[in-house]
Amino acid sequence: MEIIHFDRLDSTNEYAKKLEFNSNLRRAIVADSQDKGKGREKRKFVSDKGGLYFSIVIDEEIVPNKLSFITQITAAAIYKALKEFGIDTFIKWPNDIILNRKKLAGILVESVSRGLRMRIISGIGVNVENDVQNIEGATSLKTEGFIVDKESLLGEIIEHFADFYDRLQVDDIDEALNIVKRNSYILNKEILVHKNKDVLPALAKDISADGSLIVEYKGGGREAIYSSGVQIRLNNK
Ligand code: BTN
Repeated sequence: MEIIHFDRLDSTNEYAKKLEFNSNLRRAIVADSQDKGKGREKRKFVSDKGGLYFSIVIDEEIVPNKLSFITQITAAAIYKALKEFGIDTFIKWPNDIILNRKKLAGILVESVSRGLRMRIISGIGVNVENDVQNIEGATSLKTEGFIVDKESLLGEIIEHFADFYDRLQVDDIDEALNIVKRNSYILNKEILVHKNKDVLPALAKDISADGSLIVEYKGGGREAIYSSGVQIRLNNK
């Protein structure tokens, strides 16, 4: 993987969209800080110096397999990398990595397509030693007492992502799916599904091979939820 490093960018995901298409090369765009870091659902992702912010860019000549599962393999890769540093995290479907009940990392997967050609961009932000005091519900590795070298963490996440991605293309998702299920922050818990201004109490039942979350609504009915437009909160009543 080619790693392209910047001191500062608006957003590594946005920069990634402007690169020349090259299906022979996998790239990672890294920035020490971002002025307009993007989160899911058009939220801002605060990206001050000290954190790890990068986008993995994969160009494909044909539409790749199981796009909807890419966020889950990214989460599994971050989980596995942190575990190697002795750090146990949870995965809050669809895209948050949780440490001591607070958000440590977020994932924003985007794709751009032109005909059959497609670019996958998996954007990852990890709070390493950046100041998170003013970010509600967030923590950093440093706050939790872990000193981790950013370059080593980057290398590990990239390696695990590439491995999971290659296996996804041949439908080998067992390990990634097991990781996101076994270390889920919400499975078998009461949750609130925020959807189109509705707040629906439900039980989080399962994560499917297509990356969707299976919920059982308290009011009756079961549904496979895909991430867009949905917010999940634990129901700590
Ligand atoms: C979220 O928590 O909603 C997702 C956050 C994703 C942040 C990363 S940081 C690197 C990449 N570039 C961006 O602008 N966003 C992602």
